[in-house]
Amino acid sequence: MTDRELVNLAKAAAKNAYAPYSRFSVGAALECMDGRVFTGCNVENAALGSTICAERTAALKAVSEGFRRFRRIAIWGEGQDYCYPCGACRQFLAEFAPDMEVLCARADGQYVSHKLSELMPFTFSF
Ligand code: THU
Repeated sequence: MTDRELVNLAKAAAKNAYAPYSRFSVGAALECMDGRVFTGCNVENAALGSTICAERTAALKAVSEGFRRFRRIAIWGEGQDYCYPCGACRQFLAEFAPDMEVLCARADGQYVSHKLSELMPFTFSF
């Protein structure tokens, strides 16, 4: 799958976002090492801190189905800026794939690519 295709899947996944509070939809498409893709969207809650980001939705779907080896993730947000993963999502993804590729896309579909290790050096571990 090309980067562009993965970004398109992330954008499509954002259609299911439940974001009545922020009104900011995010979608993610997580590609595993074997090529399988899990998508996710942000799911907000009236108790705002209980909100789950799109990236963690996708990662939880993958891990709970037995997939832990991640190659790439595309994140699409409906804003004008590239949608970078929040700190909690960086830490969460780094648990499984510290060197994975992260494609950060904005509303118009343009994206930038980074290594997670570049976005999240010195992850917490014990
Ligand atoms: N959000 C994500 O889905 N991923 C991130 O990495 C950052 C933020 C969501 C959470 C919330 O529903 C909305 O964006 C605004 O913060």
